[in-house]
Amino acid sequence: MKWYKIPGIQNTAQPFIKKVKISNKHICLVGYEGQIFALSAKCPHAGGDLSSGWCKEGKLVCPVHRYSYNLHTGKGSEGQNDYINTFPVEIRGGAVYVGISSFWEKLKQAFK
Ligand code: FES
Repeated sequence: MKWYKIPGIQNTAQPFIKKVKISNKHICLVGYEGQIFALSAKCPHAGGDLSSGWCKEGKLVCPVHRYSYNLHTGKGSEGQNDYINTFPVEIRGGAVYVGISSFWEKLKQAFK
């Protein structure tokens, strides 16, 4: 797994949603209730930009048709039958890092 330092985000307790591009992926960084989450920024329903959405009850809500995704797991709400990718976040020395696994690393994990 490769870790990427995210510029411009302090480890803060203030809520925020910001889209960043890391390793050719658009990732939505969400600060919610003192934790930072990293999720795919593209809604699987019809491609909405989740970074324009909002958080409610531990879920990221898409602004287009209001599908919602669990911040911890990326799992879609009941009845949606979909999910978004989530990425690990670490705070090191006050800086925010997001971990991205390569295709081969994901494949190896799938067969463990
Ligand atoms: S595009 Fe996100 S809910 Fe439809």
